[in-house]
Amino acid sequence: MNEPLVLGIETSCDETGVGIVRGSTLLADAVASSVDEHARFGGVVPEVASRAHLEAMLPTIERACAEARIQLADLDAIAVTAGPGLVGALLVGTASAKALALGLGKPVYAVNHLAGHVVVDELEHGPLPPVAVGLLVSGGHSSLLLVHDDAADITPLGATLDDAAGEAFDKVARLLGLPFPGGPWIDAAARDGDGAAIAFPRGLTASHDMAEHRYDFSFSGLKTAVARWVKAQQAAGNPVSVPDVAASFQEAVVDVLTRKAVAACLEHGSEHLVLGGGVAANSRLRAVAAERCEVAGIILRVPRPGLCTDNGAMIAALGAKLVRQGAVPSDLGFATRSVLPITIVVMNGSLDA
Ligand code: KG4
Ligand code: ZN
Repeated sequence: MNEPLVLGIETSCDETGVGIVRGSTLLADAVASSVDEHARFGGVVPEVASRAHLEAMLPTIERACAEARIQLADLDAIAVTAGPGLVGALLVGTASAKALALGLGKPVYAVNHLAGHVVVDELEHGPLPPVAVGLLVSGGHSSLLLVHDDAADITPLGATLDDAAGEAFDKVARLLGLPFPGGPWIDAAARDGDGAAIAFPRGLTASHDMAEHRYDFSFSGLKTAVARWVKAQQAAGNPVSVPDVAASFQEAVVDVLTRKAVAACLEHGSEHLVLGGGVAANSRLRAVAAERCEVAGIILRVPRPGLCTDNGAMIAALGAKLVRQGAVPSDLGFATRSVLPITIVVMNGSLDA
């Protein structure tokens, strides 16, 4: 039993996540969400999120330790999201991690939230292959990545030029009168709708866009198209079928994401596609990705929905992988970074700050 025991802390947005892993075995995944406190504002309110993290941090750490049946003193290392995210929210996590590391005399790894979304799949499906394409789709990010076996080596292939996929789900849900966060509501409403009912645009898929933005995404035109369509129907006095709009919008997002992800695999010689981030919990995305990967001979890896949305286990998994690979821990003076490029997977204090 010499696999590293690592506690991961995640506070980049509205989930206080504390996960504990031993090597790539998940021992605990405690999450406290402040989402209900934000719902009436239609989006995450940073100050409310920070306060909620403060209140939830110690109980969530205690809950994770109890679930994993370990004492803090047993830990080999602490990992924490240092960015990207809401700076006030991140600070609660990084300050807690620094305090734990200092108090326990253990190393701390200040890591990139986005890399955690991809590496978390190792907890369910074992080690990642030497090279894989990662499709990372969350509330704040939508990227195609080339992920290497070395956890610290991630090459961006493309990203959204405007809204993130999750942001588009949330905005379209809002205009359909569905609650926040909208992704799960659109997913549910779409089950009763027809994805081919309305032909919404597929951003950046025309041949000239594919030449310049092969692996990039754009969802703001789609969101505007949905808004215009709904307004036009209302102006004409026609009933708007929420399930049909939800299904047709979802189909447009899923079509573009999966088409580009499969192309990236084929063009980069990757036999594996890994999905990560909150939108990877979407049932239609999972189904279409499975169909298209099968046709293309690509192995699809998707964590269960609870590990796709923000959680501490993904940060613990990334921390444990870094420990196993002999990565240098972060200096305790590491900075918290609201903007952190995916190329910086682990921060080494002043070197990266
Ligand atoms: O990764 P995540 O939990 O937080 C960020 O790092 O952003 O992603 C949250 C996003 C939200 O926009 C939410 O609406 C979306 O993930 N989401 C979904 C589903 N579940 C969560 N989008 C579509 N379908 C879902 N089932
Ligand atoms: Zn996330």
